[in-house]
Order: sequence, then C-alpha cells, then structure tokens
Amino acid sequence: MRAGVFGATGYIGGELLRYLAVHPAAEVCFATSRGDAGQAISKVYPNLRGLLDAPFVPPDRAGLASSDVVFCALPHNISQEWIPRWVREHPDVRIIDMGGDFRTPDPAGYAEYYGHEHTAPDLLPSFVFGFVEGNRERIRAARYVANPGCFATSLLLALWPLRRAGVLAGPVQAAAVTGSSGSGNKPSGTTHHPERFMNYRAYKALSHQHLLEVKHFIGGEGWDLEFVPHSGPFARGIFLTLFPPRMALAKLARVFREAYGGEPLVDVVDGTPELRLVAGTPRATIGIAGRADRGIVFVAIDNLGKGGPTQGIQNMNLMLGLEETCGLRIPGGFV
Ligand SMILES: NC(=O)c1ccc[n+]([C@@H]2O[C@H](COP(=O)([O-])OP(=O)(O)OC[C@H]3O[C@@H](n4cnc5c(N)ncnc54)[C@H](OP(=O)(O)O)[C@@H]3O)[C@@H](O)[C@H]2O)c1
Repeated sequence: MRAGVFGATGYIGGELLRYLAVHPAAEVCFATSRGDAGQAISKVYPNLRGLLDAPFVPPDRAGLASSDVVFCALPHNISQEWIPRWVREHPDVRIIDMGGDFRTPDPAGYAEYYGHEHTAPDLLPSFVFGFVEGNRERIRAARYVANPGCFATSLLLALWPLRRAGVLAGPVQAAAVTGSSGSGNKPSGTTHHPERFMNYRAYKALSHQHLLEVKHFIGGEGWDLEFVPHSGPFARGIFLTLFPPRMALAKLARVFREAYGGEPLVDVVDGTPELRLVAGTPRATIGIAGRADRGIVFVAIDNLGKGGPTQGIQNMNLMLGLEETCGLRIPGGFV
C-alpha cells in the first residue's frame, strides 16, 4: 500500500514517517514540504537515515494519482484549502486528515471554536470521525477520515465507556496537561523552551476547540463537559484526569474493563498510568483510582502517538483492510 504525507516536516508528519518507514504493509510514496522540497527526508530527519532517503516534494507536485492513502498533517484551517482539490481530482484516493477541519459536520460550531468560516462545508458530511475504539466499523468502510485531536482522544477514551454503559449524566469535569510538541514545530511565546521548561500554565479554560468534536461524537442529552487544558514542562505526552458521575470504584473499573477488555492498544490499570510508559508508543493507558465510594479516571497517551499519528495509522489499516495493529505493536521504554 502506498501512503503519502502532506505537511511531513511537522511533528505529526515526522512521526507518521517514522511509523510508516517500518510498516510491514505500507511504503511512503511522497512526503511534502514547501521549505525543504528537494532535501532528502533523512537529512531533515536523521533518525530515518537508510529508511527514507528520497527527497521531500512541494505540495503541488505530490503524486496522489499513485497513492492508496494520503495523510494530511497540515495546520487546521489549511487542510480545507487543499483537501477539496484532492477529492475533486483524485476521487479514489483515501484521505486521513490529522487536523481539526473535518471532525464534525457542523460548520457553525467550526466557526465558533476555530475562529474561521469553513470554506468546504459541503465536504464535512463525507468524513467519518476516526476515534477507532468507538467508531471502528464506520472507519472500515470510509474513504475520508478525520483523525481526532490529541486532547480529544484522551477525553474520548475517558468518556466513551461511560456513554456506552449508560452512566454519563450531569456535569463532568476534566483537566489535562500536554507536552510542548502539542502545539507544533513553530516556537511561540508560550511554547519556546526557555519560557516553558520550568513552567506550568492553564489555557483555553472551558473553551478548547476539541470540545466541539468530543461533545459531537459522544452525543446524547443530560450531560455536559467542562475541560481545562494545561501546558507542562515536557516535550511529549498528555495526562488527563476526569471526574465522572459519582459511582463506586469497583463499578467504574468494571465499566472500563468491559469497554476496553478486547482492545489491542488500550490498557486499563488500577491506580495511575505513567506517561513514560506510553511516550513514543501507539498505546493508551487508562487508570481507575479513588475511594471505594468514588472512582475517577486517568488517561495517559502520547500526543504524537495515540493522540495523533498512530491513531491515524490504525485508521489507515482499517480503511485498507489490513490488520488494525499492523506496524503498531511497539512497547514503550521504561525509563
Ligand atoms: N502536535 C500534536 O500533538 C498534534 C496532535 C494531533 C493532531 N495535530 C494536528 O495535526 C496537524 C499538524 O500538526 P503539527 O503539530 O505537526 O504541526 P506543525 O509542526 O506546525 O507542522 C505542520 C506542517 O505543515 C506544513 N504547512 C504549514 N502551512 C502550510 C501550507 N499553507 N501549505 C502546505 N503546507 C503547510 C509545514 O511544512 P513546510 O513548512 O515544510 O511546508 C509544517 O511543517 C495540525 O492540524 C494539528 O492540529 C497535532
């Protein structure tokens, strides 16, 4: 299977290339960059030396016609400038958008949360939401998939079992901390290393754009989500704490074990998960903790793994009829 990557010099694009370079059933057929077009991929990413030595190509010279699937790892608001053209000119190519442009069929919600009128609203209903554990069968049949956001993935992993078990009700509060790679490879005042490495701060309190896709996918009445994201002094990973509707610890653990018992890339543990065990891997670890009469939920993922590129590869595998975990059976390090 031939896979192309748009926006391949970004953090998401770079990790997609790393996983695709050793995927047993896929090969990288192009990787785009505007600034690094003509440079060998392995020059920009020395970790891929000997694995991907072909040059980056400019986005308008990408070989879509000979691709089975393309990943769009462009910034949000930019995907919608490119994707309509690919759909029009290459209707058979499967597309996985890693950004936020096509995650709900709600253009008004998009304008509210992303501060931008959607320029391709007619295409929104063509995309299937790529939260694998909750939407696997629709993804298998999809041509166009919108991969969930990183915070959204952690929230969905915590909320979906509650919805599935019919116990989601009332206000639900959550807070999560992300590493600096979550905001892409362009330094800004709040992500630049000297400003960040000793810092811990909240941002977008109750207004983060991922609320849109989470509330839309989980759906239903009688519950609401309040979410506060934080930025932490590390490079990769997301750690979420969610306070579900009040229920006994044993019941909460049962709800999560029933939801994820057969899942190949989601572990449920007693007590806290640890970022170090999921960093650099496609896995999520969910921890159930608290008092006997009140359980809470923790989720640990890599924003550059399950929170992005490896969920994208799970989606690719499903869309292409491959084993879902093909190329993704990778344990984490332990220190
Ligand atoms: N970072 C995360 O943890 C994370 C997790 C999940 C999802 N996402 C989403 O995934 C997408 C990529 O995120 P990222 O963190 O990898 O961003 P990034 O590091 O900023 O990389 C985006 C890449 O897109 C290319 N690009 C930018 N503007 C472009 C344009 N107008 N036309 C063509 N190419 C353009 C750039 O490459 P050149 O300059 O070389 O062309 C850039 O390296 C975003 O939509 C983001 O929201 C990110």
